[in-house]
Amino acid sequence: MNHTTSLRPLADAASRQAYAPYSRLHVGAALRSASGATYSGCNVENGSLSIGLCAERAAIAAAVLAEGPAFRLSAIAISAFNSHGRAMPVPPCGACRQALQEFAGDATVGFLGGDGSWTEVGVESLLPHGFVLPEDL
Ligand code: THU
Repeated sequence: MNHTTSLRPLADAASRQAYAPYSRLHVGAALRSASGATYSGCNVENGSLSIGLCAERAAIAAAVLAEGPAFRLSAIAISAFNSHGRAMPVPPCGACRQALQEFAGDATVGFLGGDGSWTEVGVESLLPHGFVLPEDL
């Protein structure tokens, strides 16, 4: 398994850049590409609430911008803090699981679990039966 603990401080730093005036949940994500490079993202909310962007997908966009379509995900860490700076358990949302699957081979996802411990799981275990666009359309 590709470890995520070294990505955690980067995810913490990214969370401090979050634009989250509506939920007040400040989320950061930091990923390691198969190339070894790291990229970060934070959540970016909007007054039109449904168009907010999650930290994980912001990090993926940064990675694709830097590496192009060959980008592959090795590991990603997600950190989240409430308005008092308290760490919050935030496993990736369903949409982000689908986005991670798109770029993942055997990628590891690290996040604070509901029991308060750092949890590392494979992407495939987060999204069983994930959607893949059929090729013969
Ligand atoms: N959020 C993320 O950034 N990633 C997730 O995987 C879960 C949710 C953000 C979206 C929104 O800005 C805030 O957390 C509350 O849902």
